[in-house]
Amino acid sequence: MNTNILCIRIGNTHVIAVSDPNIALEFMKDTNGIFSSRPDSMSGYLTSGGYMDTVLAPMSDHWKKMRKMLSREILSRSKHTWLCKKRNEEYENILRYIKNQSKFSHGVTTSPVNVRIIAQQFTTNMVRKLILGTRYFGNGSDNGGPGEEEIEHADSLWTILAYLNAFCVTDYFPWLRWKTDFDGHQKIIRNAIRVARKYQDPIIDERIQQWKHGVKTEQDDLLDVFITLENSRLTADEIKAQILDLMLASFDNVSNNVEWAIAEMINDPRIFDKALQELDFVVGKDRLVQESDLPNLSYIKSCVKKAFRLHPVAPFNVPHVTTADSTVAGYFIPKASHVIVSCLGLGRNPEVWNNPLTFDPTRHMNSDKEVVLTDHNLHLFSFGTGRRGCPGMLLGSTMTTMLLARLVQGFTWELPTNESHVDLKENINDLTKAEPLFALAKPRLPHNLYPTS
Ligand code: HEM
Repeated sequence: MNTNILCIRIGNTHVIAVSDPNIALEFMKDTNGIFSSRPDSMSGYLTSGGYMDTVLAPMSDHWKKMRKMLSREILSRSKHTWLCKKRNEEYENILRYIKNQSKFSHGVTTSPVNVRIIAQQFTTNMVRKLILGTRYFGNGSDNGGPGEEEIEHADSLWTILAYLNAFCVTDYFPWLRWKTDFDGHQKIIRNAIRVARKYQDPIIDERIQQWKHGVKTEQDDLLDVFITLENSRLTADEIKAQILDLMLASFDNVSNNVEWAIAEMINDPRIFDKALQELDFVVGKDRLVQESDLPNLSYIKSCVKKAFRLHPVAPFNVPHVTTADSTVAGYFIPKASHVIVSCLGLGRNPEVWNNPLTFDPTRHMNSDKEVVLTDHNLHLFSFGTGRRGCPGMLLGSTMTTMLLARLVQGFTWELPTNESHVDLKENINDLTKAEPLFALAKPRLPHNLYPTS
C-alpha cells in the first residue's frame, strides 16, 4: 500500500507491517526489551509442544534459558568446528546423488534433475546428520538419495512451515474456537507434526536411555550435547521440541535460496561464468571446493546474498509481539501488537536499492571487506538482527554457500532443450518458486573427484 508502516486491526489484535529499514531496526534491535515476544497461535502452540522451544516461545525465562543454551552450547563456533567432518560427508553425498541422477546419451545429459528436491534433501540430510547423527531414518537409497522415510519427513516439515506461516482465523477470533478446527488447519498441522516426530522422537528416547545406562559415554552429535548439558539440563520434552525447532529453522531458507540462485544464474549466463571463474581461480579444477575456501569466494557469497534479498522464503518475518505501549517513528504502538517486517519491503525497497529487481551480485562486493550474508542495518532481512536475530547464522551461511559453490563447481547447469529461460514466477501462498526448477546437470570436473559410495 506504498507506506513504510501500516496498522490493520484484525479482531482485537493490531497487526503492524513495516517495510522501512530504519523503523524495522527500532523494532528488531529492541533496546527497551519490549518488542521481542511471539504471538500465541494454534500452529505455534502445537509445533512447539506448548512453547517448550526457542523460535516460537514468547519472551520468558524459558526463552532466555533456551536462547543462551543454543548460542553457547549448540550453535557456537567451537561446536561448528567440531562438526566439520559430518558437514563434509553431506557435501560429498549431494555430489554423488546428483551425478547418479544425471543420465547420459552419447556424452549428452538427457534427464533433468529437480534442483528443489536436491537442495531440500541436502538441508534435511545435513541437519539430521549434525543433530541425530544419521542421514537416513531407514536404509535411504542406493544412489545417495532419500528413502521413503526421508521424503515423508521432509514433506512433513514443509507442511508444518506452511501452516506456521498461514493466516489462521481462530488466532484472531478466538470465539470461533467453539467450532473445533474452524478452517481445517489444526488437523493438517497435527498430522504433519505427528509424522515428523514419529521419526525423530524414538531416536531421542533411545539415546537418553543409552546415556542413562552408560551405554553411551562420548558425545558424537548435537543430540548427545543436548542430553548432557551441564548448566541448563533439559527434559526429554524440551529436547524434542528443540530438535523439531532446529529442523524447521534450517529447512526452507537454505533450499529456497539455492534454488532461486541457480534459476537466476541460468537466466543470466554472465553471472554463472563469473561464479565459475572465481571458483576456478580460488579452488582450481583438480579438487573440490571446501569450507576453508569460503572467505575467498566473494562472488559466490554475493550470489547467495542477492538471492536472500530478492527471494526470501516468506513475505514476512516470524511475528514479534510488543509487551508494553510505546511510540515508534512517531506512531503509537499499543501493547500486544503483532509486528511483522516485510522481507520484500526491505530487500526490494527502491529508496534503498537502485534497480531493486535486478539480480546483480557485484553490488554486494566491497574489495576491502569479506562478504557476509547478514545485514545488521536491515537493508535485507536474511537472518534478522537483535534479540530474536538468528542464532544459526554461521551454520546457515556455511550450508547455503557451500551448497551453491559445490553445485556450480561440480556441474554445468542447462535447461532442457525445449526451454529457453527459467520462469521466475513466485508461488501465490509464499515466495518460493511457483514451479520447481528442473535442469540438466553435467559433471564438469575429472571423474575421480566425484564420490562413488
Ligand atoms: C540460511 C539459513 C537461515 C536463515 C536465512 C535464517 C533466518 C532466520 C530469521 C529471519 C529468524 C527470525 C528473526 C526474528 O524473528 O527477528 C531466525 C530465527 C531463528 N533461527 Fe535461523 N535462519 C537460518 C538458519 C538457521 C539454522 C541452520 C538454525 C539452527 C540449526 C537456525 C536457528 C534459528 C533459531 C533457533 C531462531 C529463533 C531465534 C529466537 O526466536 O530467539 N536458523 N532465523
